[in-house]
Amino acid sequence: MTTPHHPTDFLHDLRTRSAAEGGVFWINDDLLAVFDPDAARRVSGANWQGLLMSDRFVDMLRRRRSTQIPWARVRTEWRTQLHTLATAEHHANLITRMERAIDARLGDDIDLVLLAQDAAVRALLPVALAGLTGRESAWIVQDLDQKLMRLIDRPPGTGPRHQLHFAAVQFRAGLVVRRVLRERAAGRRVRECDLADPFVDLLPELGMDRALDVVTAVLTAIAGPPGAAAASVLYELARQPRWARRLTVELGDADPDDFHASPVKAAPLTHRFVKEVLRMWSPPLLLMREARTSFDVGSTTLEEGRGYVLSPHMIHRDPRFWRDADVFDPDRFLPGAPHGPVGRGCYVPFGWAPKKCVGADIGTVQLMALCYLMCTRYRLVVPAAEQVTMAYRFAPVPQSFKGELTLR
Ligand code: HEM
Repeated sequence: MTTPHHPTDFLHDLRTRSAAEGGVFWINDDLLAVFDPDAARRVSGANWQGLLMSDRFVDMLRRRRSTQIPWARVRTEWRTQLHTLATAEHHANLITRMERAIDARLGDDIDLVLLAQDAAVRALLPVALAGLTGRESAWIVQDLDQKLMRLIDRPPGTGPRHQLHFAAVQFRAGLVVRRVLRERAAGRRVRECDLADPFVDLLPELGMDRALDVVTAVLTAIAGPPGAAAASVLYELARQPRWARRLTVELGDADPDDFHASPVKAAPLTHRFVKEVLRMWSPPLLLMREARTSFDVGSTTLEEGRGYVLSPHMIHRDPRFWRDADVFDPDRFLPGAPHGPVGRGCYVPFGWAPKKCVGADIGTVQLMALCYLMCTRYRLVVPAAEQVTMAYRFAPVPQSFKGELTLR
């Protein structure tokens, strides 16, 4: 076990109020905090029940309804595709891509947050959208990077020139996605096994703007949480030498190609380590939502159009559900551990049905694969690692997290 971590004043205040008010309280006139596990599950269920995709822009202008597409159908397409991608071969490719991205950045004084982000995005991009040319892929990555930089408070600038550049990069990335979908539909581009491909056949029903929204949703999903979680993995590996040594022993004998079939069996310790990283440092910190209809949350009524906020992080650090909640200890996930979760709803790094993260399995395997690479292929040295602190941005982000990364 190591020193507890302390949150910022804002989160600290939220935690104090949450403990005093049973996890459900108004943060201000417009925003209801729902930090109680049962309430969060019920609110998600109530809010997203029967969710349909928005109408097409062109139909909105003409004041008519588009073909109705349930969001559940979109999620089924994603899940089916991810199931097809859950093979040893696809995972081996994912690891190779991550390895290439890290190899390209070896050296001293490496910004480990950017390295983690780059490795995660480059490994996952072909899962979302495969078969891109080098140029297309660079444009998409540039768009994802610039969005992330805003999220972690490191934008290259804020003036009108930067805003314009931001919009231009985003527009160009959108054009790439449109072109890929159009060319696949016309048979001018090879169909790929990725999360965009099912929507090529649905283009007549969806329309290009809604298809673009669906692909953008995945691209946004792979651009934020996976990279933030990867940075947190590096952070804990650097700060927990005892755990890093234990992982190195386990992973020395492990075959990463087995991770996807049964991560717990293939590398139980590494799996616990990743689970604990996701408990302590769940990205994103706060999920801001708007009530689609009116419904009750305990004794409060949330009216249509009002906001609420969910947070895996707040639940994961709540002492009512976790003993020594601020202490990093993967062994709390051993069966029967006294400091384990008091119920299943207390561990929710991937959110809640029916909007729960569809990439939970591949996201977990990717983090385990990152541990594998860091413990078997690379040597990471972070000077004064115990002094590196976490800042709370859209997700926890290690500050001034730099180190030397070399091949073993
Ligand atoms: C460790 C990595 C990851 C974490 C911590 C994470 C976390 C989350 C969370 C908290 C949500 C919101 C759930 C809710 O609203 O209740 C979400 C949604 C989503 N995630 Fe992930 N995610 C990760 C990796 C991935 C990956 C690798 C993919 C794709 C391959 C992915 C695809 C998605 C999608 C598409 C959604 C939106 C689902 C919907 O709107 O129905 N995620 N993720």
